[in-house]
Amino acid sequence: MASGRENFGSSTAAVLAMAGSAIGLGNIWRFPYMVGSNGGAAYIIVYLLLAIFLSLPILLSETIIGRSTASNTFGAMEKLAPGTRWKWVGLLTIVSPLIILSYYSVVGGWSIEFLWKSVAEGFGETSPELFGGFISRPWAPLVCHTLFLALTAGIVMAGVKSGIEKFNNISMPLLFVLIIVIMVYSISLPGASEGVEYLVKPDFSKLTPSAIASAMGQSFFSLSLGVGTILTYSSYMKKDADILASGFGTAAFDLLFALIAGFAIMPAVFAAGIEPGAGPGLIFETLPYIFGTMVSSWAALGRIVSILFFLTIVVAALTSSISMYEVGAAYLVEERGMSRRKAVALIFCGTWLLGALCSLSFGPLSGFKLFGETIFNFCDKLTSNFLMSFGSMLFVIFVGWKMKKSTVREEITNGGKLKFSSKIFGVVYFFIRYIAPVAILAIFITNLLA
Ligand code: PHE
Repeated sequence: MASGRENFGSSTAAVLAMAGSAIGLGNIWRFPYMVGSNGGAAYIIVYLLLAIFLSLPILLSETIIGRSTASNTFGAMEKLAPGTRWKWVGLLTIVSPLIILSYYSVVGGWSIEFLWKSVAEGFGETSPELFGGFISRPWAPLVCHTLFLALTAGIVMAGVKSGIEKFNNISMPLLFVLIIVIMVYSISLPGASEGVEYLVKPDFSKLTPSAIASAMGQSFFSLSLGVGTILTYSSYMKKDADILASGFGTAAFDLLFALIAGFAIMPAVFAAGIEPGAGPGLIFETLPYIFGTMVSSWAALGRIVSILFFLTIVVAALTSSISMYEVGAAYLVEERGMSRRKAVALIFCGTWLLGALCSLSFGPLSGFKLFGETIFNFCDKLTSNFLMSFGSMLFVIFVGWKMKKSTVREEITNGGKLKFSSKIFGVVYFFIRYIAPVAILAIFITNLLA
């Protein structure tokens, strides 16, 4: 099957695609709050260390499996460990991103509605309660969810090169420009300095074990780890691409975007004298309220910034959702012999249905609970607290203990051609084989006890 496979056109395109998967709602609605409430600059330092020493080995493991096999997650396991139970890991990592896609596209849908609202009427009359009223109506969020999923499907249907690569090549630079514009605006608001202080003032006393465990969870989610997206995208990487450099590049873009998002959001929140919070509330309640109630001289600008802001969220969410979609599409096309069109349609039906249930769990289905959680929260917790770290653990164990060391070296050093990668291979391998599995286990246990 590999012969008819598409590849990303260049290493830059591959990094942009992986950064596109990584940069998403996680950077915008969780990171800024996590930084502020867990020790500011102290948290950023810990997050950076965790990203380099823990998330990067996981990211590299997925990249090694994907690039060496040029296969979807299931096919990759079958190639490297034929006839073993590892194929179940391949299957699991097809299901997990589709569960994430289901609820992620509900939030993507909300962003579309808020973008539309910013364009059509602005948020002049809004109160922070607008959002609760919006998501509990059954129809409008369902229509927006359908629209978001259809946009995602359309891009994936167009193929790896003409769909995914093209969209990322345009969107990623655009995203950085947009978020920088919003940051400049936000920092220039009167009273913004408190927000800047909230993000940078180090407070080491807040770095508790559970804060560190949650930083790790944030890093997994933000870098799209353990659910096969990085593996699948890497399978489209050319053989001469530098795996280490791509991994560093992806992690660096993701962190940079998260930091800029923090400086785009928190100064505005503090300028409006509002207590910051995390999650949907931050971007769908607090910010529309701020945009709508800007003091008169800023009002017109507030409207423009709100359009740019929700456009940023829609585009950032799309570059992530296409990566989740592609994991399943690659599997169905390569292993089940389906046409791309059919594969995309099948995934659309499945994720639309689960997503619809997630969407309705804010309204008519709010009384329906799975293990004490609404359907939306259940899908979120199952994937972010469990499946992502579980998948990451299995990937590092696979590369560190099951794959031949020579194959791993071959991939990281491109057969010895990459001098720097050859020099540090021993360290990288040590982290993949020993440090990452132990650290993931420790974090898992801390989360269970918390
Ligand atoms: N990394 C994405 C974000 O920060 C979410 C994501 C998770 C994307 C898993 C792909 C796979 O929003």
